[in-house]
Amino acid sequence: MTQVPPNSGGKVSRRDFLKLMAAAGTVMTFAPFVDWGKFLPDPTGNVAGKQKLELPDGTQANVKTFEVNSSQAIIYPKTDDAVLNKESFRTWQFVRLPVELGGDKNDVSAFRVYSMVCLHLWCLWKYWPDPGRKRGECPCHGSMYDMETGKAFAGPASLQAPPSNVLPRLDIEIDSNGDIWILPPTWDPNKNGIVGYGRYLNV
Ligand code: FES
Repeated sequence: MTQVPPNSGGKVSRRDFLKLMAAAGTVMTFAPFVDWGKFLPDPTGNVAGKQKLELPDGTQANVKTFEVNSSQAIIYPKTDDAVLNKESFRTWQFVRLPVELGGDKNDVSAFRVYSMVCLHLWCLWKYWPDPGRKRGECPCHGSMYDMETGKAFAGPASLQAPPSNVLPRLDIEIDSNGDIWILPPTWDPNKNGIVGYGRYLNV
């Protein structure tokens, strides 16, 4: 049974909330009515300021070394709690686009950081760089995501109404050394989006 911590004031923690949501399995029905900001990381969007875009090997991503047409799964925001860091809601796909989408440029336009939580039923999709693919694919029911925009173009996620057909996205900046930083997000469908729910394009 889920225990409510004694100092929580009776409130449900974010981790417990996510467990309940997974168990319910009806999230898309009531997603628009949930106050998501209480449960998502860094709800104010500006607590920690910009953070290093840290690769799985612990190094900071750099525009001079991160290969064109490649990707890595990253954690954002990272905490000191190894269990929290495994939450799928903190898992993002950092992609350097292929050449045909401008991935050979040395500025932020060459990169994308999208939530890896599929907008259909929350499996984790990933980027496939092979010729003829170069897209995000979800292994569960075949949703496919365009890497330039984050919009689903095939599979069940593509049939969902906006904003639940476009992946949430993090904004980045590159400093004079080429190091890449993640800017504080605003968890709103009209801004960076809401993980597991979506984002409106062109707003
Ligand atoms: Fe990704 Fe169903 S969860 S396509």
